[in-house]
Amino acid sequence: MLSAVPPPVTVRVPAKINLHLAVGPLRDDGFHDLVTLFHAVSLFDEVSVAHGDEPGIEVFGEGVTEVPVDETNLAWRAVQLLADRAGRDPDVRLVLRKGIPVAGGMAGGSADAAATLVGLSALWKLDLTRDELSPMAAELGSDVTFALYGGTALGTGRGERIVPVLSRHPQHWVIALHRGGLSTPKVFAELDRLRAGSEPVERPVEPVLEAIAGGDPRQLALSLGNDLQAAAVSMAPELRRTLRAGVDAGALAGLVSGSGPTCAFLCSGADAAMDVATELAGLGVCRTVRVAHGPVPGARIIDNQEAA
Ligand code: C5P
Repeated sequence: MLSAVPPPVTVRVPAKINLHLAVGPLRDDGFHDLVTLFHAVSLFDEVSVAHGDEPGIEVFGEGVTEVPVDETNLAWRAVQLLADRAGRDPDVRLVLRKGIPVAGGMAGGSADAAATLVGLSALWKLDLTRDELSPMAAELGSDVTFALYGGTALGTGRGERIVPVLSRHPQHWVIALHRGGLSTPKVFAELDRLRAGSEPVERPVEPVLEAIAGGDPRQLALSLGNDLQAAAVSMAPELRRTLRAGVDAGALAGLVSGSGPTCAFLCSGADAAMDVATELAGLGVCRTVRVAHGPVPGARIIDNQEAA
């Protein structure tokens, strides 16, 4: 008797921005200790996993030429890791539909890896919980664990230790995408270079935690901050102009997202975000703009009718 091939599983997974990113000194293992407040926003990738006689990856969407389709892709490393743990062959096909900017500082590659863990766990009927998947996520990369959970969460360690933070109030963002990307290790190295010989300035997390709990975007605007911003601007000086243009266009505040070069602008509401996006798009200071809101949930299975 022929066994039925299970249908593909599709997972939607959000981008992240860091509302707060305090970077400690370089550790012996090449990473930096972080205290960060992750916030998942409504730019999504969709990852489909299916049984396949020809294992491999296909990528669709913006920036696809920069996404590797071999075993260096973090999503494929997620397949190999879970296959290894489950004692199975990695005989799957992955389809990545990119809505998260590639190499943009929004953890798109990490999101795909998290979505792959969730999708494969369902396809292979392992039914692992997020808490059970999270050690594998941490092994794959510093931002993968957060992409499993989404929402708003405090990240410590190298970013992989996650504690959810209550933030019931939606926040409205304009996301400015740039041409080209910035390499995360190079941005961290640039920060070390800029800091050489000086003590890092303390960046306490309490004000941003209070602001996100209170929900007032004006209060939140005053407490946003990212230590990697100076390094990203040093490597891509045109970001200074983008950051100024967003605030001039009416945003409450702007900051570089993670290691950049994407910039995120906090707005007072959904209408204000549309106005800021329209104005920013007309100024030619970035490749394209998107409006988004957060927080949104992490990697989640959607049914095939919902898939793009
Ligand atoms: O963990 P992930 O593979 O995403 O990290 C990519 C690179 O970013 C690391 O190899 C390291 O150079 C840098 N990084 C860091 N400290 C962190 C996270 C990332 O220096 N906490």
